[in-house]
Amino acid sequence: MAELPSSNESSPQVGLGSRKVLITGVSKGLGRALALELASRGHTIIGCSRDQTKLDSLQAQLSNLSSTKHLLCNLDVRSNTEVEEFARATVENELVPNIIVNNAGLINRNGKMWELDAHEFDNVIDTNVKGIANVMRHFIPLMISSNKGIIINMSSMAGRDSHELIAPYCASKWGVEGLSKAIAKEVPEGMGIVSLDPGLIYTDMLLSCLPDFAPNYQSPQHWASKAATMILNLTALHNGASLTVEDPGTLPNP
Ligand SMILES: NC(=O)c1ccc[n+]([C@@H]2O[C@H](COP(=O)([O-])OP(=O)(O)OC[C@H]3O[C@@H](n4cnc5c(N)ncnc54)[C@H](OP(=O)(O)O)[C@@H]3O)[C@@H](O)[C@H]2O)c1
Repeated sequence: MAELPSSNESSPQVGLGSRKVLITGVSKGLGRALALELASRGHTIIGCSRDQTKLDSLQAQLSNLSSTKHLLCNLDVRSNTEVEEFARATVENELVPNIIVNNAGLINRNGKMWELDAHEFDNVIDTNVKGIANVMRHFIPLMISSNKGIIINMSSMAGRDSHELIAPYCASKWGVEGLSKAIAKEVPEGMGIVSLDPGLIYTDMLLSCLPDFAPNYQSPQHWASKAATMILNLTALHNGASLTVEDPGTLPNP
């Protein structure tokens, strides 16, 4: 893991002040916990996911935390057109992000690759890889105009190692690693693109792949307090790095 520069960035009063942070997949799990953590530190959230009821409840929670205007949109990251409209909405609302966390993702049901539907394989790649590409396609040009911006693409230990029964997910996260490193070479010097293994956290996703063990792992809230500090400290010096949130946890013994 790359060494992060030390900083006491834990409130908007220090460091670079209040940031506009775009997070995909904010309806639940890591994205929601990160949105609430960052809003509680005074940062502005631009979020998206597809479940409107969950977006409404998050909007209410964010309003209780701060008087800042947060922007939550219902959209599917698999749709290039919807992401393009989202980018336009951030410009219109003067909310072009300083930081993007490409967090939206899904995992296939546990199963050997040849036992899974082709549709399920496609859905994992379309969301985890092409969804991130859609966001970068439409938001990098907005960031390039100010020659600033940090993009965090959510990877996994499955993007750096191999695991049985989740081959589509592994392929997608290795894809995230490659996509991030290649695009890091294309952006101007002021920008930073990293892949981030968040560690193991008790969410619906972990419950799907490790049903017997998931409740033993850290909560999304605990994770978010570590991840928020790390994310706020990233700079262009980290461009191209593969990072891991501290204390990621280990897989259960077979
Ligand atoms: N939990 C872990 O231990 C762990 C470990 C390694 C990596 N990760 C990575 O961390 C990220 C978050 O995982 P999580 O555990 O928080 O999963 P989660 O609880 O299942 O949440 C996934 C989020 O992604 C959103 N999403 C899924 N498909 C979407 C789409 N097409 N368009 C927009 N939003 C979409 C979901 O919202 P809607 O369904 O409402 O759209 C939801 O908000 C993922 O990229 C995952 O691969 C997690």
